[in-house]
Amino acid sequence: MTHGTEQQLWRSGAHILRCPVCGDEPSATETGLRCPRGHVFDRARQGYVSLLTGRGSGHRSDTAPMVAARRRILDSGMFDAVANALAAAIPRDTGVVVDAGTGTGHYLAAALGAAPAALGIGIDLSKYCARAAAKAHPRALAVVADLWEPLPLGDGVADAVLSVFAPRNAAEVARILAPGGCWLIVTPNPGHLHEVREALGMLDIGADKLVRLHDELAAAGFRVTETIPVTSTADLSAAQATDLAGMGPAGFHRTPGELAAAAAGLTGATRTVTATVDVVVTVAGIPSAG
Ligand SMILES: C[S@@+](CC[C@H](N)C(=O)[O-])C[C@H]1O[C@@H](n2cnc3c(N)ncnc32)[C@H](O)[C@@H]1O
Ligand SMILES: [Zn+2]
Repeated sequence: MTHGTEQQLWRSGAHILRCPVCGDEPSATETGLRCPRGHVFDRARQGYVSLLTGRGSGHRSDTAPMVAARRRILDSGMFDAVANALAAAIPRDTGVVVDAGTGTGHYLAAALGAAPAALGIGIDLSKYCARAAAKAHPRALAVVADLWEPLPLGDGVADAVLSVFAPRNAAEVARILAPGGCWLIVTPNPGHLHEVREALGMLDIGADKLVRLHDELAAAGFRVTETIPVTSTADLSAAQATDLAGMGPAGFHRTPGELAAAAAGLTGATRTVTATVDVVVTVAGIPSAG
């Protein structure tokens, strides 16, 4: 994208954003965003803007090697069934889609591809993710922010919100969703990647995960309108199995060497291991009063 069109995109998206310090609506400048009270947020050379406040965050966000591993896995097509399900579920007339915990922006790009007039905002705590997300699609803006803090977005600005394998702040999603808007949530089923989870040190998926999600949604005033199961399989090389583990929390607590050794053990003589993608897309909205 040329500098000019990037600037234009920020101009058209600034009114959706809020200053994380004072809550006012910023406007786009040559170099980033500026709110009426003079709080200034520079646009990084790589195209994203950090709207983290000075307090910083106690949460661990993805590192550069994790983001690179995630990008290789997503580019391999292993999770295309998930991207396709999201693209099919997002309303075509969506005006603004927010991807909360966007990672590389892969699923935001899929949603934007299916909603031809939409502007996308990818939010992530990791600047490495924001760098990738800024380039994920010509209609995507990338913002660094903490999902556990008030989101730097106005009330009711989003027609759709995506939460794909990412932390969910239901109260904040309820606040930013427009009336009639939808929240598309992707969560893994217990069988997700079951062939490789244990060997690669990936966290267990609780059997009650979907029940807990529904409880969490109901408590925040959401009603589930659709539950879409998505399954597919992929034959992974040892390098891909290493990436699959390294792009997630195992990337924090196991060394690349440990992951590679575990992956080599899994693939054995056939040199590949089959892994099942087994997830649910939950679509939820807030029923209108009356
Ligand atoms: C498992 S990844 C999923 C990324 C992407 N949705 C995908 O499926 O490819 C979770 C993402 O959430 C981000 N994340 C974790 N905690 C966060 C927080 N408190 N605020 C914002 N992003 C966060 C991580 O940096 C990471 O990119
Ligand atoms: Zn301000």
